[in-house]
Amino acid sequence: MRKIHLIANWKANPKELSDAKRLALGFKGGLMKARFTDVALAVPHPFLFSVGEVLGKSERCRIAAQDVSPVNEGAHTGSVTASMLKSLGVREVIVGHSERRAQGLTDEGVRIRVEKILKSGLTVVLCVGERERDTHGAYLKTIESQLLTALKNVQKSKSGRLIVAYEPVWAIGEDAQSADTPAGFREVAIYIRKVLSGPFGPQAALTIPVLYGGSVTPENAGTFLSEGHASCLLVGRASLLATSFRSIIEEAERVGVTSTRTR
Ligand code: PGA
Repeated sequence: MRKIHLIANWKANPKELSDAKRLALGFKGGLMKARFTDVALAVPHPFLFSVGEVLGKSERCRIAAQDVSPVNEGAHTGSVTASMLKSLGVREVIVGHSERRAQGLTDEGVRIRVEKILKSGLTVVLCVGERERDTHGAYLKTIESQLLTALKNVQKSKSGRLIVAYEPVWAIGEDAQSADTPAGFREVAIYIRKVLSGPFGPQAALTIPVLYGGSVTPENAGTFLSEGHASCLLVGRASLLATSFRSIIEEAERVGVTSTRTR
C-alpha cells in the first residue's frame, strides 16, 4: 500500500497559540478517514507542546520541528536542542530550509544539525534546492554539494531516518515564480537518488523518501504525487488554512487509492 507523508510547515505562523490549536484540530479532523496519508505539523517551537496535546497519540498526525540548534544542553542562551524536541514528542526536524539559509545558515551548520538530530534518534528532513535554475545544469551541482556536505558523516545504518526535501528556492513562498513541474521534480529526484547512492548505496538511495516543496496547492498536489512520483510533500502557505490542507489530504488519498488499484 502506498503511504503518503505530508509535512505542514507553518513557519512563523499563526500569531497566537489559540489559533495554532484550532488549526491543529482542523488538521486532525481531516485525517479521520485517511487510509494512505499521514501528516507532520512543523509548528513554531513555543507551540509544540500544546499542539502535540491537541493531536494526542495519533500516529497519523504528529508534531515536527522547523529547526534545531547545533549544540548540546549547556550554556547556550536561546538554544533548543534535539533532545529537548524529542522529549516533547517531536519525531522529525526540518533542517537547511532556504529561509534559514538566507539568515546565514551554512552547509556546515546544516551538517552539524543533521548529526545532532540523528544522534537523538529523530528523523532529518533535509532541505536542498537551488536559487535559480540555469539551462546548463549548474543547479544540480548546488544540490549535490548541499547533500554531500550535510550528509558527510552520516552512517549507512542511519539512512532509514533521512528524508530529503527538494525545495527550489524560486518556487517557495509569496514571491515564487511558480511551483516546479512534476516532470521537473522527477528529474531532480532521480539526480538526488544518484547522489545519495554514493554514500548510502543504491538500495538505500531508492528507499530514502525524496519530497517536493514549493507552492504546493490543492490544485497541484495530486500531480506531484502521481506524475512526479513524490514520496511526500512539504506544504507552506497552503497549510495555514485547514480547508486547503484538507483538500491536499483528499488529493493524497485519491492518489493512494489509484496507486493501489494499478498495482
Ligand atoms: P510554500 O512554502 O508552500 O509557501 O511555497 C514551502 C516551504 O517553504 O516549505
